[in-house]
Amino acid sequence: MADRLSINDTRTGNEHELSLSYGTHVNAGSAISAKDLRKIKTSDDDFGVLVHDPGFMNTSACKSSITYIDGDAGILLYRGYPIEELAAKSTYLEVAYLLLHGELPNESELDIWTTDITNHTFLNEKIKKFLDGFRYDAHPMGILVSALASLSTFYPKSRNVQDEEIRARSIRRLIAKIPTLAAFAYRYSVGLPYAYPDNDLSYSANFLNMMFRATETKYDPDPVLERTLDILLILHADHEQNCSTSAMRAVGSSDADPYVSVSAATAGLYGPLHGGANERVLEMLAEIGSVKNIASYIEKVKQGEFRLMGFGHRVYKNFDPRANILKNLAEQVFEVTARNELLDIAIELEKVALNDEYFVKRKLYPNVDFYSGIIYQAMGIPVEMFPVLFAIARTSGWLSHWDEMRKDPELKIARPRQIYTGYPRREYMKIGARQ
Ligand code: CMC
Repeated sequence: MADRLSINDTRTGNEHELSLSYGTHVNAGSAISAKDLRKIKTSDDDFGVLVHDPGFMNTSACKSSITYIDGDAGILLYRGYPIEELAAKSTYLEVAYLLLHGELPNESELDIWTTDITNHTFLNEKIKKFLDGFRYDAHPMGILVSALASLSTFYPKSRNVQDEEIRARSIRRLIAKIPTLAAFAYRYSVGLPYAYPDNDLSYSANFLNMMFRATETKYDPDPVLERTLDILLILHADHEQNCSTSAMRAVGSSDADPYVSVSAATAGLYGPLHGGANERVLEMLAEIGSVKNIASYIEKVKQGEFRLMGFGHRVYKNFDPRANILKNLAEQVFEVTARNELLDIAIELEKVALNDEYFVKRKLYPNVDFYSGIIYQAMGIPVEMFPVLFAIARTSGWLSHWDEMRKDPELKIARPRQIYTGYPRREYMKIGARQ
């Protein structure tokens, strides 16, 4: 017999039995169905009990087999594979394939997948006219959100989200085109001519080419920086039901096409509490300015004046495994780029915070954004592009969740409930009678 939870309703004296369902992994969670709570009523016309959970602190919105996180143990698995191993041994395109298809590709599958993605890197030339409409100093993330949505108008068939083959084509297009859109958004914002994709290069090398190529006929990126970017993309590729992925699922649940849905997810990512945090980390480190100012800065954080950016996580309460990988990666990157004094401030800030009662008590540790911004900056990537890079990486994760959701027999349009706290019904007053 299935496990059950017994609830005693003190209002009626009734006893209710609710079935429990489980995930497939230790700590993957046990859940009751929120709908079962509606059966708990004081009378026939009572609405029943709701779950009130602002910020979805403890609500499962779907079943998913893509990513597993154990926040207490600092474990992150994509389709069962530890993030440390994928970051050490895989490429971003392999990981994107894994997230989307559930298995790592064999050699011929990877060849076909890479060719499929590479074939879609170019944009319709009309996009350039669209970009021309933005102000000269537009933030590339704002441009990206709009340009992604505009792709929907170029591919109207993508609205047929029930068709698996059309979905697969949209997925390939989005993964291929988002680096091109992102690089175009950057070059527009700094007034440089667009650099077209070079399909002889790897996914990450091509992005660096579109960002940085000047007069050379062939861009030749530093292999350490190319690999570093690939690792950063792997680390950011998915993180189960976060704000942007939930936006992707919520918008996609109305049968909206994947271009506008990825645009909505990108908008969710833009906020400083999510993908915009690495931009803020750099601003914070620059504001601290020197190791000797750390103690007074930490004091202000503890007084509640502001938060330590790049610290804390809703799920990780011990350490963020991605932050550990990035700390080591930062040292490697600085061997090929000039050492950045912000790294010294970051390392010391981490040390001070991890030994401070305030942070220890609240289980606040460096998250993925604490070191990623410093690495991006050392690679010559401008600060405004940090969340854009996060969006490029997360596109494969968003699309994996979208495709999984489309195949889910439990799929329903997202439509939360609320606890109404406003007026009961009242009389309408003509304007002259109002106070
Ligand atoms: N600095 C100082 N105090 C903090 C911080 C921080 N970064 N984060 C949380 N706290 C405190 C918070 O003030 C609260 O203290 P108290 O209990 O005294 O009121 C306690 O810790 C719990 O905070 P919370 O806001 O309830 O935690 P949350 O799970 O809702 O927020 C978070 C998670 C990531 C939004 C938050 O830790 C934060 O704002 N961090 C800074 C922004 C950041 O680095 N974001 C990137 C997240 S990782 C990338 C991604 O996945 O998007």
